[in-house]
Amino acid sequence: MSRLDNLEYLASADPAGMGEWVAGLPEQCEEAFRLGQEAPLPEAAGVRQVVVVGMGGSAIGADLLRGYVEGEMAIPFLVSRTYHLPAFVSRETLVIASSYSGNTEETLSAYGEARERGARMFAIASGGELERRAQADGVPFCRIPGGYSPRAALGYSFVPLLAVLSRLGLIRDRAEDLAEAVKVMRELRAELGQGTPAADNPAKQLAERLYGKLPFIYGAAPWSSAVAYRWKGQVNENAKNLSHSNILPELNHNETVGWEFPERLTAQIEVVLLRDREDHPKVQRRFEVTSTIMRPHVSGITEVWSRGHSILARLFSLIYHGDFTSYYLALLNGVDPTPVKVIDYLKGELAKV
Ligand code: F6R
Repeated sequence: MSRLDNLEYLASADPAGMGEWVAGLPEQCEEAFRLGQEAPLPEAAGVRQVVVVGMGGSAIGADLLRGYVEGEMAIPFLVSRTYHLPAFVSRETLVIASSYSGNTEETLSAYGEARERGARMFAIASGGELERRAQADGVPFCRIPGGYSPRAALGYSFVPLLAVLSRLGLIRDRAEDLAEAVKVMRELRAELGQGTPAADNPAKQLAERLYGKLPFIYGAAPWSSAVAYRWKGQVNENAKNLSHSNILPELNHNETVGWEFPERLTAQIEVVLLRDREDHPKVQRRFEVTSTIMRPHVSGITEVWSRGHSILARLFSLIYHGDFTSYYLALLNGVDPTPVKVIDYLKGELAKV
């Protein structure tokens, strides 16, 4: 029997309940959509660009959103992950500050610059300094529930922004697509959840293949690339495991050449390909040819196919698979998936400066 089938072990190795948070993503998305529908709106007439400022688990929600709406939004959408804003940000830019804790210094710095430049603004947080400033400045604010690890609150960092962009008329309404995404995740939960034995559970099986290996996660432009980056981050933070992600077709123009050396390391790479039936036909072909080139060098290759009809459902199906896989990998690594002591240490050190 796999260690992952011992439910007592799962409970004792995960005292903060990351497994419950992972499993609860569909319900979180429903609640998050409601919050986004009720949030006060910024003035959007004449907006010429959208910039989301945020870091880590809060920024990835914006990355996913950016990739998802790229084919529809008529104005540029940028995710900025640092202290300063790009020079183009002006009164005609909508700046959305997203920080789960509300206390991330890079995000607060960018928020301050956006205010100075007179940008239209919107803020989202579970509280903290960002909420305090937004309330004091009269910036439209969406409060999301506290008590999660930021990365476990992905639904809260992504879905309210989706609802807000629709309500501002920048993208079409997504209520139906979100309902489908929730349905698809609920169906997947029966397959990927803790109670389903490894023999029938693709996420447990994939975690076992990744155990002791270097996971390389490959997605494709425009949206599964962001999902691949989410997988990498979840493997890093939940499983405390190094990981790497990259994008097709771009990686065919550089990384493909690098699989030969160092041989001791390439033999430890376990590749995960995030596949979607609507990827560009040439990208589908690239996945196949790329697998043939990689196979002799790497430990193994697993394809994970998206499920569902709408892009939103397909996107969430891949996220959900990665969240479960990284959680199971944490338990195989024998680490508590929730704490990220190194990030806490870094934030503490930087706060002293
Ligand atoms: C921790 C995590 C981190 C944080 C990041 C920014 O679970 O995922 O990547 O998200 O340090 O903090 P917040 O989200 O509070 O602005």
